[in-house]
Amino acid sequence: MSSPAAKSAPAQARNGALLDVDGVFKHFGGIQAVNGATFGIAPGSITALIGPNGAGKTTLFNVVTGFYKGDRGAVTFDGNSIFRHAPYEIAQRGMVRTFQITKSLAAMPVIDNMMLAAPDQPGERFMNLIVRPGAVRSRESEVREQSMELLEVFNLTQLANAYAGTLSGGQRKLLELARALMARPKLLLLDEPMAGINPTLGKRLLEHMQRLRKEQGVTFLFIEHDMEVVMNHSDRVVVMAEGAVIAEGEPHEVRGDQRVIDAYLGETQEDSTT
Ligand SMILES: Nc1ncnc2c1ncn2[C@@H]1O[C@H](COP(=O)(O)OP(=O)(O)OP(=O)(O)O)[C@@H](O)[C@H]1O
Ligand SMILES: [Mg+2]
Repeated sequence: MSSPAAKSAPAQARNGALLDVDGVFKHFGGIQAVNGATFGIAPGSITALIGPNGAGKTTLFNVVTGFYKGDRGAVTFDGNSIFRHAPYEIAQRGMVRTFQITKSLAAMPVIDNMMLAAPDQPGERFMNLIVRPGAVRSRESEVREQSMELLEVFNLTQLANAYAGTLSGGQRKLLELARALMARPKLLLLDEPMAGINPTLGKRLLEHMQRLRKEQGVTFLFIEHDMEVVMNHSDRVVVMAEGAVIAEGEPHEVRGDQRVIDAYLGETQEDSTT
């Protein structure tokens, strides 16, 4: 981990990128978790972020979405610098990441989980309840309708009134994705969305990603370890090792890249000694 990571691409404007990450660093004590990561995400793409365990993928997600403050570097989203900005501000700009559902939300019906995830509800402003009750009601029914539509997309309609805490792990993952979509994001970041869910649900999730990209132009960046999923369901692949981006390209290009093979071989050797 101490050796400086393979050089990442030189700092340059990746023209037209929806998300541009340029020379980002983040350390925890003596661990350089993200070590000069540089890459761009094209609008309307489905990009897989891959790399061995501990490569810094999740940390990079946290820095990009504002949940961790990066040490240095630049992150531009949709033409605006968002580096070290607050998570809520970044989410408002249209970059959303999925999260586990917290305990309090588990004690709430699925439909309420969905409705709470909608931005800018007039009922949130107390004065609106008094001054514009009609507007509150119509926005609420609009949000309810949007929620039910998304639940239908994810085969969760019959669970709308169930407590979120009673859902299976896979159903929760779908609910997480459905909730994230309530905010109508431009870019959705998913950290191992397929992990721990059955293959049928996993396939549905992937199909939804393709459909949302096609119909709504949503851009996706997802972390994934399953190479078959990466090869079949992404247009672009970004490969991280030791905190830096060591390769980038179309799935078939990175698969044969010697640096990528070496990075994974290194992991296998480490694993076999532990
Ligand atoms: N909050 C933290 N505090 C201290 N060290 C951390 C923290 N988060 C991550 N790390 C360390 O930073 C490095 C990168 O971890 P990270 O979780 O980003 O890797 P990853 O690529 O997501 O790995 P995996 O594929 O196993 O999920 C690791 O050495 C990890 O132990
Ligand atoms: Mg991770």
